[in-house]
Amino acid sequence: MRIVLVGPPGAGKGTQAAYLAKNLSIPHISTGDLFRANISQGTELGKQAKAYMDAGDLVPDEVTIGMAEDRLDQSDAAGGFLLDGFPRNVGQAQALDAYLAAHGIRLDGVLDLEVPEDEVVKRIAGRRVCRNDSAHVFHVEYNQPEAAGVCDVCGGELYQRPDDAEDKVRNRLDVYHRETEPIIDYYKQQGLVQTIPALGKVAEVTQRAMDALRREA
Ligand code: AP5
Ligand code: ZN
Repeated sequence: MRIVLVGPPGAGKGTQAAYLAKNLSIPHISTGDLFRANISQGTELGKQAKAYMDAGDLVPDEVTIGMAEDRLDQSDAAGGFLLDGFPRNVGQAQALDAYLAAHGIRLDGVLDLEVPEDEVVKRIAGRRVCRNDSAHVFHVEYNQPEAAGVCDVCGGELYQRPDDAEDKVRNRLDVYHRETEPIIDYYKQQGLVQTIPALGKVAEVTQRAMDALRREA
């Protein structure tokens, strides 16, 4: 299946994507994780992205679209994928449509994770991610690692993302409303959107998303 996951920062996209991608045997492609990996490896792409990310602004499309398309090329897009954090504005959504059309494929669905803003703020405030791989995500209260401060998956050190500071989060939410929410209407016009209530236990949300995808299949 070819799926796009959207939702505000802290909605649980990365958390859900890990389970959904495993259940569906498709690659989880997160542009945020790709940027963070580039930053920790000190690549040119990471240097270009860092200031935007630290401020909670979008990295320019010229950088982002090429990176996402390269990653899709590597994973054989026709075989399926779960995109998390891309597209993030209408220009990126149009670029993705053009890429898919050029490969003779289309999206199967867009899952919109719906979470009230006060919950998002709590989820982000307590989030801790792994230094080795920011796809390893925990929460100090809601999703605790077995040993405090240590990643269950790889033993790496857990830390707070720089863009999870309160003032950055406010900007990320503004950017989400202004730039990203319009893609939900864009995809609604294509009949692709399923809204998933994303409050409740992680496993309950995964179940709702899997049920929605079964309706899509
Ligand atoms: P990105 O990494 O994509 O961040 P985001 O969209 O802001 O999303 P988050 O990672 O904050 O949250 P999430 O929804 O994945 O939630 P999570 O599962 O961690 O992007 C970061 C930056 O990169 C952007 O600001 C931008 O600069 C740049 N960027 C990325 N893509 C770009 C693009 N396409 N174009 C331009 N720039 C781009 O969950 C949050 C917390 O809640 C965790 O602690 C988790 O344990 C907990 N949790 C999850 N589910 C539940 C639950 N059901 N109940 C309780 N707690 C839960
Ligand atoms: Zn880890």
